[in-house]
Amino acid sequence: MDLRAGRSLSRSEIVELLAEARQRTLLLVGALTDEELRRQHDKLMSPIVWDLGHIAHFEEVWLLENLGGAGSGSEGLRGMFNPFENPRATRDQLPLPSLAECRETMARIRRDVLGRIAELDLDAGDPLLLEGFVFRLVLQHEYQHDETILQTLQLKQGRPYPAPRSLVAPPCAHPDAPPPGSMVRFPGGSVEHGTDDRTAAYDNERPRHVVELEPFWIDAHPVTNADFARFVDEGGYDRRDTWSPEGWSWREASGVVAPKHWQRRDGAWHTRAFDRDGPLDPALPVCHVCFWEADAFARWAGKRLPTELEWEAAASWDPETGRKRAYPWGDDPPTALHANLDAQLFQAAPVGSYPLGVSPVGCWGMVGDVWEWTSTDFHGYPGYRSFPYPEYSEVFFGDEYKVLRGGSWATRYGAIRATFRNWDYPIRRQIFSGLRCARDA
Ligand code: AVJ
Ligand code: FE
Repeated sequence: MDLRAGRSLSRSEIVELLAEARQRTLLLVGALTDEELRRQHDKLMSPIVWDLGHIAHFEEVWLLENLGGAGSGSEGLRGMFNPFENPRATRDQLPLPSLAECRETMARIRRDVLGRIAELDLDAGDPLLLEGFVFRLVLQHEYQHDETILQTLQLKQGRPYPAPRSLVAPPCAHPDAPPPGSMVRFPGGSVEHGTDDRTAAYDNERPRHVVELEPFWIDAHPVTNADFARFVDEGGYDRRDTWSPEGWSWREASGVVAPKHWQRRDGAWHTRAFDRDGPLDPALPVCHVCFWEADAFARWAGKRLPTELEWEAAASWDPETGRKRAYPWGDDPPTALHANLDAQLFQAAPVGSYPLGVSPVGCWGMVGDVWEWTSTDFHGYPGYRSFPYPEYSEVFFGDEYKVLRGGSWATRYGAIRATFRNWDYPIRRQIFSGLRCARDA
């Protein structure tokens, strides 16, 4: 199914996409017990049935209430499944439904939505309907919560998560991939940043605007476990001079000495990925590092994190033609040959595995595998206008959050593009987050 932005969706495409989204969500949780779905596995995450109920409630609000109806234009989420009324840490105290009740509610809402879609004039003037925007909004919301659920399952204790079998063969590094440690040069100049797309992009990706960049160097690959282990083993976590003052405060207060899930056993690093507890694979991108750790690594390497402007330019700007691409490889929607996305592989791949995904200036793996921390605070672009509700982006603007780019192996195909912006607190490392470094030219 072609999810590309910039085209309208037919009635039958909408129905199929909604069905596929739900199939995937239920596949991820299908083998979990009621107890595993209702328990809060970590204070940072919701009980998984909360995510399920919230997915359905979001769909109800946008496709039944706000669409051509009495909608306020704001998210309008109420009660138990309103994320603002109920912060994650307290969601285990809610009178959450059983899985059976929750699935019934999800199915009832979906039935009503399909009834509504059948009678809807898709070409009505409603800006929510323009080229299928509101359907992509609801789909992307479910996709994003699928990744949230996978973050939760990565933290689950006890019986290992019975992950669905991977759908693709594990790739290996391509012989033509640049050697580890390579950097590529971005020539600088005027580049277009962001997008004016109103069919799939979020308000925080708009408007498209021209920025002037100085030339810079950026890593051809994400930082690997081997790279990061060198930093750890050479005392990176004990050297105050490689941390920012705020980062060092976090380092001291947290007592952290290695990326989340790393364990030293029999003289070697081990890590955990769902049900697999095994030796650290040196070829994979490092994962589960927070912004402070990423920033300290970059300083230790004599480099820095890229700004999000640099990241997007390196991912999508072609300096030869002066054209911006929707994805690093071009404008075609992602497949399993372009990037490690969509929980197809169910884990990160060795860096250099996706020769078809290389960006115009020669960056590999910009999309997929791990989210990449940038040095940029999450703000609105010049001329930002909230649409269709301020609670998605605007309420998070400020210097508390750092921008991450590129998506992870757990990000669904329809929830990533070169202009997509994710954000989180600089201390967070339960997300599938890594980094690549840059430096001035
Ligand atoms: C864009 C991942 C930061 O999970 O807080 C889900 C996505 N927004 N429901 C989040 C989101 C509303 C959001 N992130
Ligand atoms: Fe949500």
